Formats: sequence, structure tokens, C-alpha cells
Amino acid sequence: VVKSENNPTEVQTPIVTQDDPEKHIVIGQFEMASKDQAMKALEAAQRAYAYGQGEWSKMTLAERCTHLEAFSKDLESKTDEIADLLMWEIGKSSKDAKSEVTRTVAFIQTAIKEAKALAESESRWQEEKRILCQIRHLPVGVVLASSPFNYPLNEAYTTFIPALLMGNSVILRAPRNGATPHLPTLELFAKHFPKGTIQVLTGSGREVMGALIETGKIDAVAFIGTASSAKGEAKDAAILLPDADLEVAVESCVSGMTSFNGQRCTAIKMIWVHMSQAEKFISQLAEKIDSLKIGMPWEEGVKITPLCEDTKPGYIKELIEDALEKGAHIVNKTGGKCFKTLCALSILAPVNDKMRIWHEEQFGPVTPVAVYEDVQEAIDYVAKSQYGLQSAVFGYDEKELGKVVDALSYHVGRVNINGPDQRGPDVFPFTGRGNSALGILNATEGLKFFSVPTMVATKNDEERNV
Ligand code: G3H
Repeated sequence: VVKSENNPTEVQTPIVTQDDPEKHIVIGQFEMASKDQAMKALEAAQRAYAYGQGEWSKMTLAERCTHLEAFSKDLESKTDEIADLLMWEIGKSSKDAKSEVTRTVAFIQTAIKEAKALAESESRWQEEKRILCQIRHLPVGVVLASSPFNYPLNEAYTTFIPALLMGNSVILRAPRNGATPHLPTLELFAKHFPKGTIQVLTGSGREVMGALIETGKIDAVAFIGTASSAKGEAKDAAILLPDADLEVAVESCVSGMTSFNGQRCTAIKMIWVHMSQAEKFISQLAEKIDSLKIGMPWEEGVKITPLCEDTKPGYIKELIEDALEKGAHIVNKTGGKCFKTLCALSILAPVNDKMRIWHEEQFGPVTPVAVYEDVQEAIDYVAKSQYGLQSAVFGYDEKELGKVVDALSYHVGRVNINGPDQRGPDVFPFTGRGNSALGILNATEGLKFFSVPTMVATKNDEERNV
């Protein structure tokens, strides 16, 4: 972390209690990096890389795997400490915060396994048309990675670990909400990697990342977050076909809607149900949502916790009020209630295209339900979206299911059948269409993206007449 003496920023938890609602507890402090400091980080990263002559970039892939293995063991030993910071800073339940760290350690293991397979393939010479060739995957140089607030640790690591494995120098921009979970890892970076190989910058993404990219000296960028140009136009949808099993659909929709309060790119953000099942489905969904525990992230069995961004409750309220004015209802008893950052999940039904919730990506605890007569209405909704990450389809009639899955496949990166939208396992490609993704995020693709296949070639003996 590049430290600034002049620009310290307090980190406040979004968690407030009913006893003292005005009190925000300060859980830490970090420095907002300036543009100058970002430039210093860039110089250090370039020195560390040194066009492949740096200590890290010069190592073999197999050697780097050994260092990453030791790093991942140390990271695992800090699970509770990091999970605690995640919980306090972004309001993630203690259980989910721990699983974010565990999942990150598992990702490193997967990436190492993939890298070892790549190292093994690099040692082989291939022959084609009397040319012998060895392909080496060399680093691209200096990589800039940035993660969002909802998975500050996991999404940072899923981008920068493959980059590190391939011998690059990495500058990680930690999210404004979710910077403190990176603090315990700084000593591990210093222990396991040569100076300048990985640096963490805090501060405004626009300012710090913008300045770095403008230099033209960043060789690859990995960004997960909200593009400022994204205007919001439809989003991840679940579609219940007329023969959907309501128990299965309700369970999947509840998990897709409530996991981290809907603050996930793969959260179910719109539900389409056929008119024949609408009433039954809506009432079962509402009942299930109302039975979930709302509370503090450390409480046993809690499902709804405080929202990370303090502006989010106001935004969610605006979306709800707009939908109510235009004819929708809150169909669950707990819906519409908020105490500071702690908001119950609201189900809005029936929604239509005049409402903001139809178009905007809420990224929070409110889910619209639309009722259809012809499934083409739901397919068109997904097709017209500027986003195209995932869709979930519920039903059993093979012909109908096949038709809908095929149609959706041209608009999203993954169609889930009788299950919620989700990322992973990490060897599967995580990608989407439209404004949802540019590139593929997983261990295997990361190793390819952050390296250049470079050939060493020679004519074989026969060709050279020896
Ligand atoms: O917010 C986007 C995450 O990468 C989604 O991951 O489906 O495992 O929650 P998840």
C-alpha cells in the first residue's frame, strides 16, 4: 500500500444498531492514494517486471507455483481475521464472509493446478511440417486489477492470481468499500513475493485507475464492477415455465434473490412466471421470504444483513415507490420496511415496462415479478437487455425447455436449468454478453489472458539435412 500522510480515510461499518442508530463504528483507516502515488506504484511494478528480467518474471512457472502454494497456506491461516473485516466493512454475514475466503483459497489451488499443467505442456516440443516448436507462455508485463465491493477479496484474487502465476507484476486497486480485508494480506505479499511484484492501491477508482491507464504503460486490465457508462436496461432473469416445480423454483429464487441481499452480479433480479402458476408461486415465494431471518451479520442463521452502501436504501425505496405508483404491490408482509441500512426484501408484483424496476439493475433487496401468457415475452425481455450474464429456467417439458434454453443462450453467458444463477466451479468459463462481460473470468482463461504464447522454433534434422 502506498501511504499518504495527508489523505487518511476512516472506514465506517454500515452496521448500525437500534440502540444508537446515529453511531457508526470506525473499524479502520486507510490512505486514499493520489495520482502521484499511483505513478510510483507503476514505476515499482515496471522495475519488478524489468521486461522479464525481474526476480519474479524470470522464475519458471513451476517455481512460481511453489511460491503461490506457500502463500495460499498463509492466506488460509488468516481466514477468520479477513472474514471479520469483510463482515464489518461490507455487512456480509459471518458465514458468507468465511466462505468468501475459503473459496478464494480454493481458487488459488485450482489456478496452481492449471498452471502446473501448462508448465508441463511448455516443456514439450511439437513438430508440424518439419518445424519443431516449443511454446512458452510469457508474462504480458504490468497488470492492473480492480475488484468490486460485493466480493472484495474473491474477485480481486480471481483476476490477479493467474496474472501473478504467469510472472506479471500486479497493481491491485482495492474497492472503496472492502479495502480493509486486504490489509492483513500485505505482510504475506511482502513475505512471498519480491518487492514491487504486487502492490495494493486504495483510493478512487476513477482517479487512480484512470491515471494509470492513461499512461499507456499498463499491459492488461482486469476490471469487475460497474461501468459508469452502464445505464441499466433489464438484467438476470428467472423464467418459470408452466410446468415448473414451484418448490424447486421458490427455493432457487429465494437463494438467488437473498444471497448477500441481492448485491451480486448473478443475483436473480427479475422473475417471469406463467399466468397459470402466478398466484400460487407469488404467495409461496412471499411466505418463504417473510420467514427469513433479518439481522446482524454475526447472528446465527441470518439471511438479510445491512446493505453495504449507505445510499442504497434510498435508491431501493425510490424503485419501490415508483412501482407502487404505477400499479405494482408489495406482496410480502415484511417488504418495504427499512431501518437505516437494514432493509427487508420486497417482492413487487405484477411489474410492467413503465416501471424503473423493469429496467434498472437494483443490486439490492427488491425483486420484481412479471406474469406472462406467452414465454416469448420473457425471452424478449432477456434478448433486449443491454446485459447478458445469466438466466435461470424452471420446467421439465424437454421440448419447451430446449426451446427456451436455446433462445436464451444467444443472449447470456450461462443458462441454469432448475437452479439459481451462480458463478463457478472455477474451471468453468464465467462470462456474459453485451455490457456484462468482455473476456472470460476463470483460472484457465486467466492464465492465457495474462500471458503471450511465444514460440521458439527450428527446422527438424531431416529438413536441415543433418
Ligand atoms: O457478483 C458477481 C459474483 O462473481 C457472483 O458470484 O454467483 O458465486 O455469487 P456468485
